[in-house]
Amino acid sequence: MTDKDTQDSPQDDSTQSAPPTESKGADRIPRTIWWEDGSVRLIDQSRLPLVGDVLQCDTHEGVCWAIKGMAVRGAPALGVAAALGVAVWAQNEAGDIDEMQTFLDEMGKVVEAITQTRPTAVNLFWGAERMLVLAYDNRDLSLPELRALIVQEARNMVAEDEARNRQLGHHGAALLERGSKILTHCNAGSLATAFFGTALGVIFSAHEEGKIEHVWVDETRPVMQGARLTAWELMMAGVPCALITDNMAASIMLAGGVDAVIVGADRIAANGDTANKIGTYGLAVLARAHNIPFYVAAPTSTVDLTIGSGAEIPIEERDHDEVTGVTWSAVLEAPTAEETRVFDALTKEDSHEFSFGRGHKLHVSRKGGSFQFDGWARIAPMNVPVFNPAFDVTPAEFVTAIITERGVVRPDESGSYEFSLGAMCMGSGGMHELGQLT
Ligand code: MRU
Repeated sequence: MTDKDTQDSPQDDSTQSAPPTESKGADRIPRTIWWEDGSVRLIDQSRLPLVGDVLQCDTHEGVCWAIKGMAVRGAPALGVAAALGVAVWAQNEAGDIDEMQTFLDEMGKVVEAITQTRPTAVNLFWGAERMLVLAYDNRDLSLPELRALIVQEARNMVAEDEARNRQLGHHGAALLERGSKILTHCNAGSLATAFFGTALGVIFSAHEEGKIEHVWVDETRPVMQGARLTAWELMMAGVPCALITDNMAASIMLAGGVDAVIVGADRIAANGDTANKIGTYGLAVLARAHNIPFYVAAPTSTVDLTIGSGAEIPIEERDHDEVTGVTWSAVLEAPTAEETRVFDALTKEDSHEFSFGRGHKLHVSRKGGSFQFDGWARIAPMNVPVFNPAFDVTPAEFVTAIITERGVVRPDESGSYEFSLGAMCMGSGGMHELGQLT
């Protein structure tokens, strides 16, 4: 995987308020992931908004690396990344396979590698396995034809995802009144999808309809997707918002500052139990206590009808460094000629890594005429035991409605989504409908 270039908007706040295009609203947000000149391109979200590199992945390993490092993240974007990862393998790495069964066997291993990168978002499995089913269904083609079909299908999935999110946004906006004050958690925005977003898709659509007064953005410890990505997207789209720390939501609700909570999802079980970014369950309980509707916005590809309840959803545990320290990145010009000479000397061999006591780290590298700094600073005591689950499961009873691209799903009188969700997902091509590999 290589750094391709740097997008022009994310460097600092002043550039964000004056985007260089004539687009408006959400259309100002950079694309998340796409296919270009035979490789996968994606904007590196691990450093946004202060550094906006576009990464180029020529192999499926590059895509796996980008997923593990959270350069691409968010359930629907992971589904598209998985499909594009298989496509880049089919085109670039499988070129010398000349026998169909070998191609299918090797493709199975690639799908396995991609789906092992992160366990919770079902879209990742759905995206990769959809490609495998496509290959089995079309194994009577020649290998060059099949490779081309796989690439085309993955590219179609980018466009399909955006179209689904726009429909979802439209259905969700209909639930909101004029003057709505919304609270959201993590980033279920355009960057979490191929484009437009799910929870933020609802907010973007409602904003276009003049219904949004204000959005509260949870910073979302520990990876800060809210502070880094959601706040950035809302500002680019011109949606009024304020960033808060996660522990401020309760008092804002008590003060009457929230009319609805809208979040995304990584996996929704058949009964409506919903896995999403850690902290979502707490918000759902708070919303119930304050009589505020709690909406989950997710495409049907996030619904996993193969599992009965949230107890079966695997929850990813992540690196302890996310909790014990803070990460920062920036591209800066050295303020003086003397400092330019110092950084020039340090980066003569391309980059320089400082390792300080207690694990603090600083990596300096060249970025054109500027320098890129990537740092990690410890805030917790050395060797403190840590627990870092990346997601939690909100029981269905706390979810007012699930907003999908096909419409809004509500529970039945007993509070169960079992029937309504199954009916809404019928014929959607979700996990449970992928064909058999025979
Ligand atoms: O760990 P992340 O950043 O991949 O987690 C993302 C979330 O939890 C999102 O809310 C979810 O994937 C829905 S994105 C439309």
